[in-house]
Amino acid sequence: MSDSLSPPWWKGASIYQIYPRSFADSNGDGIGDLGGVLHQLDYLEQLGVEALWLSPIFRSPMADAGYDISDYRDIDPLFGSLADIDRLIEESHARGMRLLLDFVPNHTSDQHPWFIESSSSRDNPKRDWYIWSDRPNNWRAALNAGSAWTLDERTGQYYLHLFLPQQPDLNWRNPEVVAAMQDVLRFWLDRGVDGFRIDVAHCTGKDDTFADEPRCITQPLSDFNDQPYSHEVLRGLRRVVDQYPGERVLIGEVNIRSTRQVLQYYGRGDELHMSFNFLPLDIGWEAEGFRRCIEEIETLYAPADAWPTWVLSNHDNRRHRTRYHGSLANARAAAMLLMTLRGTPFIYQGEELGLEDAHITPETRVDPGGRDGCRAPIPWLATPPHGWDGAATWLPFPPDADTLAAERQRHDPLSTFSLYRHLVAARRASPALRLGDWHELPAPPSVLAYRRQHVDDQRAVCINFADTAQVCPLDGQWLIELASDGHGEATPYDGRLAPRQALLLRPKDV
Ligand code: NOJ
Repeated sequence: MSDSLSPPWWKGASIYQIYPRSFADSNGDGIGDLGGVLHQLDYLEQLGVEALWLSPIFRSPMADAGYDISDYRDIDPLFGSLADIDRLIEESHARGMRLLLDFVPNHTSDQHPWFIESSSSRDNPKRDWYIWSDRPNNWRAALNAGSAWTLDERTGQYYLHLFLPQQPDLNWRNPEVVAAMQDVLRFWLDRGVDGFRIDVAHCTGKDDTFADEPRCITQPLSDFNDQPYSHEVLRGLRRVVDQYPGERVLIGEVNIRSTRQVLQYYGRGDELHMSFNFLPLDIGWEAEGFRRCIEEIETLYAPADAWPTWVLSNHDNRRHRTRYHGSLANARAAAMLLMTLRGTPFIYQGEELGLEDAHITPETRVDPGGRDGCRAPIPWLATPPHGWDGAATWLPFPPDADTLAAERQRHDPLSTFSLYRHLVAARRASPALRLGDWHELPAPPSVLAYRRQHVDDQRAVCINFADTAQVCPLDGQWLIELASDGHGEATPYDGRLAPRQALLLRPKDV
C-alpha cells in the first residue's frame, strides 16, 4: 500500500479483466467459476498484474450474462458462494493483487425482489424504485432490444430499461434507492474488495422531462446519455468509497465516444478515479488513427489532471487481434502500445495468449447483443477439452486453442504470454513507463514513436504499423529492452524496425 506521498496504486497498476464464465471451471459444468479463478491465481501471479477486475458474479437469471442482478449481496451458485469470494479476496491479497468487483447501478434484474415488489401494484411502496410511465417516449434500448419501455400488463404502465426488458432501470432520484445501493458498496468494501468497475456509470441520471431524443432514431440512449444527475450519483458513491482506508478505487464505464464528456465524470476529483477510454476500440491498426487518439487524450487529460486508461479488448467488443486482421504480429505490437502509453492499461483475459474471437454460428449463439466471440473459454491445456473437463463449454473455444493454450505459452520465452509478462514487469520497474510524461518523436507516417520520462528515468517506444521494414532513427543511443517479436533484445537500436515490430528502448548508458 502506498503512503500519502506516493502516487495511488491504481496509476501504476496493470489491471486484468476476468470474465468468470469463461476463465476457468472448477466443477465441470462447462461454465467458469470462482473456484476456477482461485485455481489459476498462480497463472495471474506469474503474469504479474497488480489488480483483477471480475465481471459480475452475483445472483442473476443470466439474461445478460450476469449484468442482470437479482441479489447484489450474494454469489450466483453457478460461480460459487460467499465463502469462495472471501477466499479469493484473501488469496489475491496474499499474492499482492487487488480485487475489484463489477457494480451495476443502472438496472437490476426483473427477478430482483425490489422489481417484483415494484411491479406488483401501482401503490406498492417500492413502485417508485423503478421508472414507470403511462406514455412511452422514443428512447431506444441497447442489445437489439427495441423500445426502452415495456408494458407491465398487470399494472398497465410501462417501465424503463436502457438494456434488455429483463433489466429494469432503477430510479436513482429516489433517496431510498440511493441508500440501498450505497449499502451494497459498503457490503463489499467491508468484505475487503479494493474497488469497483461501475457499469454504464453515465446512465443512472435520466432526463426527467422524458423528452423524445432525436438520436434514438438510430442509436440506443445508453450510447450518449449524459445528464447532470449521473454526476450527483457518482459523487455519492465516491463519498462512500472514500470513507474506507487503502485507496479503494472507482473505475467507470462511461460508454460515450466523446473524450470531453467522458472527462466530466472525473468530476473535481470527487467522482470516478478513472474512466475507461474506449477510443482505441474504434481505431483500426494504423499509426495515424492512434496518433490522433493519443494526442486527443494527452491534450485533454493532462490539463484536467485526470488519469488516462487504455483498453484494446473487453467482453463487449471483438478482440483486438480479430480487429487487426487476425494478425498475431499486429496484436503483439499493439500490446507494446497498450502497456507503454501514459495511463492505466486494462488487459482482457486471453489477450495475453493472443486469442482471436471464436467462430459463432446460429446454433452456438448465446448473447442477444451478439458479443459471444470475445467471450470464448480460455484454453488452459493444449489437448481438448483444454482443461475444461466435464460438460461441453457454454461457448466454443477460440481458433488455435491447442497452440495458443496457456500451458504451451507459460514457459516459452518467445510466447505472447511472455511478452505480456515482460511488459508488466517493465512497467513495474520503470517510473517513466508507470508515471512519466509522454512525448511524440519524429517518425515516418506508418511508425509511432514516443518517449516517456519521469525525473531521470526514460524509455522510448517505436511501433511499426506497416508490413514492410521501416527506418526510424532516434537521437541518442538506445538499447532494445523488449521487442514485440522477441528479436534483438539487449542489442543496440540501429534505427531499423522489422515489419509489424514494436520495440521498447532504454538509454544505452542505463
Ligand atoms: C455494459 C456491460 O459491459 C455489458 O456487458 C452489459 O450488457 C451492459 N453494460 C448492461 O449492463
